[in-house]
Amino acid sequence: MSGKALNIGDQFPNFTAETSEGRIDFYDWMQDSWAILFSHPADFTPVCTTELSRVAALIPEFQKRGVKPIALSCDTVKSHKGWIEDIKSFGKLSSFDYPIIADDKRELALKFNMLDKDEINAEGIPLTCRAVFVVDDKKKLRLSILYPATTGRNFDEILRVIDSLQLTQTKSVATPADWKQGGKCMVLPTVKAEDVPKLFPDGIETIELPSGKSYLRITPQP
Ligand code: BEZ
Repeated sequence: MSGKALNIGDQFPNFTAETSEGRIDFYDWMQDSWAILFSHPADFTPVCTTELSRVAALIPEFQKRGVKPIALSCDTVKSHKGWIEDIKSFGKLSSFDYPIIADDKRELALKFNMLDKDEINAEGIPLTCRAVFVVDDKKKLRLSILYPATTGRNFDEILRVIDSLQLTQTKSVATPADWKQGGKCMVLPTVKAEDVPKLFPDGIETIELPSGKSYLRITPQP
């Protein structure tokens, strides 16, 4: 039986699990940080090795944003520990500084709907897809992405989304297509014209459109 699908804004359920760094209680492990939980089909597979290596290299970027990474793969702690040596070697890493959950019984994969019906292992059992959950410091789900096993994730994009999530939770803006940290932002449609001068003292630009509606309001990143 799979778990209930989680929606953005839902409380991310707590869990306990064995990991490559010992047993954890997810909430205790997070402390007051944000977390990115990302799952993998299996240990000792090529795309997963590139992904875990990339995240290890990006640890300083996650730290800057107050985000702790944690991976999940459907193999044992012993297997994870052996695989970490390959990941370090592949990525030329001197250390590997985040845990990998050992979900060899697929309990969390089921609980969080991470199984991919189209990816079946040699024993005929479905593997986990590449799920990404970004959980904030209040333990709310802020982002969820599912990729198939055959497509590795772009972790620069995930950092970009985290930047947008963290900016837009305190400022009255949304970030447009292909936005990057420091780029122009859109004034939220819910901001009334009379509130613009107070919220955006440096002014905004309103783009003229064939509809005559003035919803496309651009501001430097606040
Ligand atoms: C991989 O990590 O390379 C992989 C794993 C399962 C299916 C396809 C690719």
